[in-house]
Parts: sequence; structure tokens; C-alpha cells
Amino acid sequence: MQYVPFGSLGFDISRLGFGCMRLPTVTGEDCKTSIDVPRAVKLIRAGIDGGINYVDTAYPYHGGQSELVVGEALRDGYRERVKLATKLPCWAVKTRQDMDRLLDEQLKKLQVPYVDFYLLHALGKDRWEKMKALGALEFLDSAVKDGRIKYPSFSFHDEYPVFEDIINSYDWVMAQIQYNYLDIHHQAGMKGIELAKKRGVSLVVMEPLRGGALAKPSQDIQAIIDAHPEKRSAVEWAFRFVGDEPQIATMLSGMSDEKQLEENLELFDRVKVKGLSEADHALIKALREGYQKRMPIGCTGCRYCMPCPHGVDIPGLFRSYNEANMFDQLDRYPRRYEEYVRDGEDVSKCVKCGLCEKACPQHLPIRDWLQTVHKAGAADK
Ligand SMILES: NC(=O)c1ccc[n+]([C@@H]2O[C@H](COP(=O)([O-])OP(=O)(O)OC[C@H]3O[C@@H](n4cnc5c(N)ncnc54)[C@H](OP(=O)(O)O)[C@@H]3O)[C@@H](O)[C@H]2O)c1
Repeated sequence: MQYVPFGSLGFDISRLGFGCMRLPTVTGEDCKTSIDVPRAVKLIRAGIDGGINYVDTAYPYHGGQSELVVGEALRDGYRERVKLATKLPCWAVKTRQDMDRLLDEQLKKLQVPYVDFYLLHALGKDRWEKMKALGALEFLDSAVKDGRIKYPSFSFHDEYPVFEDIINSYDWVMAQIQYNYLDIHHQAGMKGIELAKKRGVSLVVMEPLRGGALAKPSQDIQAIIDAHPEKRSAVEWAFRFVGDEPQIATMLSGMSDEKQLEENLELFDRVKVKGLSEADHALIKALREGYQKRMPIGCTGCRYCMPCPHGVDIPGLFRSYNEANMFDQLDRYPRRYEEYVRDGEDVSKCVKCGLCEKACPQHLPIRDWLQTVHKAGAADK
């Protein structure tokens, strides 16, 4: 296991952190079903015995069970061996008092008097505005003062300008961002990493394997990997890419079985800061291009087409459809599409006015592509 100093906090952190969102379950399938508790406890402890010293959980993981299981796993002396992170479920907060109540409930579930990192969970523009207005920053200050949390932090899911606003608004210790070799310009992205560097905010990365998608390369992607002189797995390349960046203290992987844990513990001996050679960078670039070739719609996500006057989330729909193609997951696309229907942002709202096409710098036939997306996703196709 490689370790690096966690910013200027005065301790070293393992480059691999244990993400407790995908613990082994009784059915072995849906991560929302019941956790296989004895197995999960053993798995988390095996990770710590193998050198992991950062454990990440959150209020909603596994329908609220993850914090309870992490609490169990960290008994018997394991708590003292790790830095523990959990997150305030901002969506459940209606008042300033709710913040104290939820934190107290979480500490009880985790069986600890304090957590090291406490994150405002999944901040985006609206949630950030709401949390600020409700006094979340004063709450973090007071929870540091009374010893229930050590390091106020946030996790982030929105566009870069929102990240900039949040990071410039408070003395954050850490930000948790989604980052992997395909998402370098998505959400906080590389720009966000540079800004965090300037602000002295350490980063923790979630979804370094894109939730597992980068671990299952298609034949054409595997061929790119096989052409590199060093024989490494798709998983190792994805971790090594994230690990190359010095601003990133640790990266979380939600390991769901013993084999994954064993493999990851072994390969994190080689995940080094600035550890990629020129040839390695060329491979990563080729992988990125390989995935891009699998994207049918040439949308760059510039959002010139937005806002659609009828509420269709054009770049969102195109991105999700492209992703389904990139990772051979078209069979699962209708489930994803349902989320757009639920939010009233799906293609059925399109009146074919064509304003989007006039604005598109790529001159995409947006209306035709929307119909293709609708056919792939909608129940009435
Ligand atoms: N704050 C937030 O808003 C937020 C959001 C998302 C995640 N998180 C945190 O970040 C953590 C990391 O995200 P993530 O779980 O999506 O990370 P990830 O590493 O991108 O994906 C984890 C998945 O990758 C696959 N995997 C891991 N190691 C593997 C290996 N050696 N070989 C093959 N497949 C492997 C497994 O998928 P299969 O089981 O399908 O094979 C595993 O469930 C989460 O667990 C959670 O703690 C936070």
C-alpha cells in the first residue's frame, strides 16, 4: 500500500480508501438490499489489516445500514487504526436543529464519539444554497468546536462553476469529487483539482472505476490495454491514473467481495503519485479516445442548447445514452431513462421547435437524436 500525507493534517493516508456503499449483500445483487453483515465486517477489517486507513460511509448507503455495519466493523480496536468519514444527508435537513440531530444519530449508529471527516453530502447548486441559508457552515464550526467532527468537508455533484463557488466560500479541509480518466472535464474535473490545489483543499476521489464500468472493458478497449508493453489490468490503469495526481489524497473504491479487495490491496503497492510514464499517459489517452469512439452522439456537453424552453435535458439525455453505448449497457438504459421521465426532462416534452439545433456549435441533428434516445429508453417505444 502506498501512503501520502493528507494535506497538512499531519498524518499519512492510504491511497486506497474503503467506500462502504457497495458492501456484500445477502442476495449478492442490489446494493439497497440487506448487507451480509458478518461478511461485510470481515471484509472491512481485512481491508484495514491490509493497510487501508480511510473508511467512507454515509447516512443513506444500503438504506441506512452501512453506518451500522461500519460501526460494528470498527469495534475491537479497528476505529483507532482509521480515519472515518460520513456525510450529512442534506436532503433530509429542514432546519438548523436537524443537522445536530442527524449528526448525533450518525455517531450513535457508528458507535463513536466523533468522526474525522464530516461531509455535506452531494452538494449541487440548489442544495448548497439551501444548506448555506439554513446555517450549515455555522453548524460545521460548532461541531468542530464541540468535538463531534474534526474536518469539515463536502462531496460534490454538479458543474465546475458551482464547485468554484463552494470551495471559495469556506475553509474546507477536504472535498470529495468524482474523477476518473473519462471524467477529466466533467463536474469538478481537472479545473477543480487545480483550484483545490490553490485553495489548499485536499481531495478524495469517488468512483475511480466509474462505479465499476471501467473494470469491464469491451474487446476493442481490452485490445488497447493489451497493446501496451506493461501487462496491467483495466482496473489497475484506472486507479493508476487517479493516483498520479498529487492533490488527491485517497481514492475510494466500493469493493463488494474478497477477490476485489485482495486484487486492489495488491495493486495499490504500485499506485504512485506522478507514477505514470509518457507511454502510460499515451495509453490513457488512447483508452479515452477508444471510449469516445463508442459514443454515437458527438455532444460535447457545452450546453449551448440549454435551457430547452420545454424542459428537455438535452445534454443529460445524450450523455446517458452515450454512456450506455460506451459500456455496452443499452439493456439497462430504460431504467436510467425513467429518471428523466420522473423529473419531467425526457424526450416526450420535445415539440421539435428546433431552437436547440440553431444553438448547437456541433450542428448536431438534435431532434433526430432525441427520438433515437427515446426509442432506446421509453416504455412506449
Ligand atoms: N459522496 C457521494 O456523493 C458519493 C457518490 C458515489 C460514491 N461515493 C463513495 O465513493 C465510494 C467509491 O465509489 P464507487 O464504489 O462507485 O467506486 P468505484 O471503484 O468506481 O466502483 C466500485 C465498483 O467497482 C468494481 N470493482 C472494484 N474493484 C474491482 C476489481 N479489483 N476488479 C473488478 N471490479 C472491481 C465493483 O463493481 P461490481 O461489484 O459491479 O463488480 C465495485 O462495486 C463509494 O463506495 C462511496 O463510499 C460517494
